[in-house]
Amino acid sequence: MAAVDAPRPSFNPRIVALDCPECGRSHDLSQPRAVCEGCGRPLLARYDLERIGAETRRDALTGSDLWRYRAALPFAVGPATVRLGEGGTPLLPLARLGRATGIADLTLKDEAPNPTQSFKARGLALAVNGALAFGKQAIALPSAGNAGSAAAAYAAAAGIRCRITVPDDTPEIFAAEQRAFGAEVRLVPGTIADAGKALGPWAPAPEWWNVATFKEPFRLEGKKTLGWEIAEQCGWRLPDVILYPTGGGTGLVGMWRAFRELEALGWVEGDMPRLIAVQPTGCAPVVRAFEAGESRAKPWENARTAALGLRVPGPFADTLILEAIRGSGGTAVAVEEDELLEGMTDLAAHEGCFACPEGGATLAALRRLRARGDVSPRDRVVLFNTGSGLKYPEAWRMALARRAAGAAAGSGARS
Ligand SMILES: Cc1ncc(COP(=O)(O)O)c(C=O)c1O
Repeated sequence: MAAVDAPRPSFNPRIVALDCPECGRSHDLSQPRAVCEGCGRPLLARYDLERIGAETRRDALTGSDLWRYRAALPFAVGPATVRLGEGGTPLLPLARLGRATGIADLTLKDEAPNPTQSFKARGLALAVNGALAFGKQAIALPSAGNAGSAAAAYAAAAGIRCRITVPDDTPEIFAAEQRAFGAEVRLVPGTIADAGKALGPWAPAPEWWNVATFKEPFRLEGKKTLGWEIAEQCGWRLPDVILYPTGGGTGLVGMWRAFRELEALGWVEGDMPRLIAVQPTGCAPVVRAFEAGESRAKPWENARTAALGLRVPGPFADTLILEAIRGSGGTAVAVEEDELLEGMTDLAAHEGCFACPEGGATLAALRRLRARGDVSPRDRVVLFNTGSGLKYPEAWRMALARRAAGAAAGSGARS
């Protein structure tokens, strides 16, 4: 049921322009803007922070979803805004794993309670409102699963069309969910990079508005709310270390933007958190580029991992990701498949969180960083579970088989 005239959300008057950090070109919002018109690189929204600071108080925020931070989001909240209750997820204390890893203040930002059970809801909520604001009636994207499901849900709620390409080894539940929302789905052999190539001819511009990672400016604004939310949940005193499972990097770059906006507003105390990009050893282009001191990440060959959201061989926003890591004094760390499977089972068995593989990877990375002395017992540390484990039956089968084999051998998983 595609609408011919879905209502158009209006822009927040505090958004000033869309800037290209690569070539410096600025774009106004009078017409649809996807990437930089000059160099084709990602665009970043710029706000009038002075005005936001003058008009908004951090102790007077309202609402329980991400629109609580509407002062620094691209759209005014009104009847035309498409909302499904995105954001407002818990920051949970991990007391038992904190003791086991020697971190007194260890928490988990659990994103599974979002609509369609992953943090992708934050970005796609904003992207679909952006498509509507630009007068678009059809969106398209390649996806490793979660982004496609979120896009399909918001497209359904907006009454617009949605086309999605997904790698053909993506768990079946994702395509079923996307089709249930009314999206058209094509399975493509290979990785998300191949799905991206297949999307172009099937969903051509300008009819189809591409909402792939960093191919439009508003998904990043939705992910930015992760940073605003963590800051508020920590009493506006930012944590020391945040471990983020990095594929396309929207969350990492978004949080870095959030913390700098909050710093400019004078809303947060203390140092900026060190942002840690976590990737699997089977697909670690950001870790490799970080370790080599490079500003671009070369595409990874033969990408392979159970953490499907991290199977992004060539992240489009590589420069922004590497800037966020280096700018925050963070680092990048790769974990083995066995370690991330162990992270999943330990989050479940010790903390009651049925994690996705990407979430398991952040616990595995913390263990590595503790072993090499990069995180101290006094650091206040945030791990991420970016989605529900329920959508990864094969990864869970492997994780439980691994744990059973460990138990049979008498070793068991670490606690
Ligand atoms: C569960 C999960 N975690 C992490 C990621 C990577 O997110 P980002 O693109 O923000 O790096 C994805 C992306 O598909 C995902 O689905």
